[in-house]
Amino acid sequence: MTSPIAHFNGELMPLDKVAISPLDRGFIFGDGVYEVIPVYEGRMLRGREHFERLQRSMDEIRLMNPHTVDEWMALTAKLLEHHPGNQSVYIQVTRGVPPKRDHVLPQGLTPTVFMMCYPLATPSREQVENGVACVTHRDFRWEKCHIKSTSLLGNVLARQISADAGAAETILLRDGMLTEASASNVFVVKDGVVAAPPRDNHILLGITYDLLTRLAAEGSLKLEIRPVSEAQLRSADEVWLSSSTKEVLAVTTLDGKPVGSGKPGPVFRRMHSLYQDYKSTLRKARPVAA
Ligand code: PDD
Repeated sequence: MTSPIAHFNGELMPLDKVAISPLDRGFIFGDGVYEVIPVYEGRMLRGREHFERLQRSMDEIRLMNPHTVDEWMALTAKLLEHHPGNQSVYIQVTRGVPPKRDHVLPQGLTPTVFMMCYPLATPSREQVENGVACVTHRDFRWEKCHIKSTSLLGNVLARQISADAGAAETILLRDGMLTEASASNVFVVKDGVVAAPPRDNHILLGITYDLLTRLAAEGSLKLEIRPVSEAQLRSADEVWLSSSTKEVLAVTTLDGKPVGSGKPGPVFRRMHSLYQDYKSTLRKARPVAA
């Protein structure tokens, strides 16, 4: 099988030809940031917003962005020429390759840029219709969850808790408050009102989270951004996950107990349809430039 085409430091090449130094700070320290952008039939969903968040992540870790948003969009378009259909684009930028291992931030390094594509795996019809199981756990990650950092050990260990339980996600609680899940944001619904935890350093501000808040406003759904307690999570009528790959997905059991009726609720179905409608507007947009 031929290796898929990837982007490495300005060049397109087969993925299996990409060679990264073991001294790269991404390898040694997890010193890098990343993005995952969903692409539907060649059209990026909120590509600019993803690259704007990449900029914010880089600002937070004092990493010089090697490209403008327009340049990132153009580089992604070039890569997507080799990857038709529905794709996830993965973009990673690390601080680069210093001469030696030293925690202190080195000056003047050229960042390492890596991009690859793989087929976008959105939820199955069965998952959309029946929802998924989740478990909860204490949020043991660090205090800078708003940075989309490649240092994902906390998230990986959190996700494994649900994998071991045969569940789709681990929903995280910090000091009795809902934060997010290991690789998604979380929404709750009570008496028809949607609530999402605040946009602070305890969550990654998802591009999908942001899109859902906009779609709620346009679709006249009531949505509040406010702290959500563990008790409110456990007594919610509906719980949803959101991410670039999960889109919006209903959680129908939490720690083995049914959420609300145990089926995806009416507010979820409305939001899911608003999201699918939004995706269909992409088909009318110019390829890649959406
Ligand atoms: N994860 N919170 C965390 C911790 C995440 O890792 C993600 C996304 C989200 C949702 O963000 P967005 O809506 O922008 O995808 C929230 C990606 C998909 C990943 O790491 O694969």
